[in-house]
Amino acid sequence: MTDATAQSSQSLIKDVQALYTELALHPEKEFGWGKGKENARSLGYDEQWLNRLPAVVWESAAAVGNPFCLGPITSGETVVDLGCGAGTDLCIAALLVGNPGRAIGIDITPAMVAKAEKAAKDLGLTNVDVRLGDIAALPLENASADVVISNGSINLSSHKPCVFQEAFRVLRPGGRFQFADMVRDASADAPACGGSWARDSRTETLSRHAGGSGLPRRGNGLLDRLQDCADDNWSDLPRS
Ligand SMILES: C[S@@+](CC[C@H](N)C(=O)[O-])C[C@H]1O[C@@H](n2cnc3c(N)ncnc32)[C@H](O)[C@@H]1O
Repeated sequence: MTDATAQSSQSLIKDVQALYTELALHPEKEFGWGKGKENARSLGYDEQWLNRLPAVVWESAAAVGNPFCLGPITSGETVVDLGCGAGTDLCIAALLVGNPGRAIGIDITPAMVAKAEKAAKDLGLTNVDVRLGDIAALPLENASADVVISNGSINLSSHKPCVFQEAFRVLRPGGRFQFADMVRDASADAPACGGSWARDSRTETLSRHAGGSGLPRRGNGLLDRLQDCADDNWSDLPRS
């Protein structure tokens, strides 16, 4: 990675942290995108979760789609949430897997990590673990998760191929990757930075199959489009 690329990556992380600290601490502000409970309702979140989680858990939710509509998550599973933010999806996952299971959230913004930890504590969830970290270098063991979920976070990384590589590294054979994200409209003017991505919410589910080569997929080719957007040399990232 060149110095300039590393600097640009660090600068993007600082911008992301500043923006999402603001959302964690001042969710009442207008950010120019859908957030909170009504946004989640419009994205098809189940009424049982809309009612079960308190307002403080919904207020900083910045969902762009609904990873739970892509497949079931069941009791006893280990779920990893990439860019868990204030912990809405993380808490839903924790309730779905119950006490035999675990829900692990990763986020790069300390204020979001603190908010997600508080959400889990307030809900009395003892199967939640929130870690400060970069989704491009997950602080997790190989083959340790049944499901990886993500909602609106991959587009914010300047190391997208690493994020996918990491997701598939931590998934057990047979595990699933269910995510929602935004993609840039190829016909639109190229944005100057990650903050200018077009709001274009899509969902896609991917599965890791034992012994499989390549990534079986269904959906609209979101994976290819996200990977196409990676514009730097990511191979020098520290591995966990
Ligand atoms: C659009 S918000 C979505 C949060 C949450 N998934 C939700 O649906 O409410 C994006 C989150 O990703 C986190 N994030 C962005 N880049 C990240 C990175 N490289 N590693 C870990 N987290 C990151 C941000 O701090 C923020 O909390």
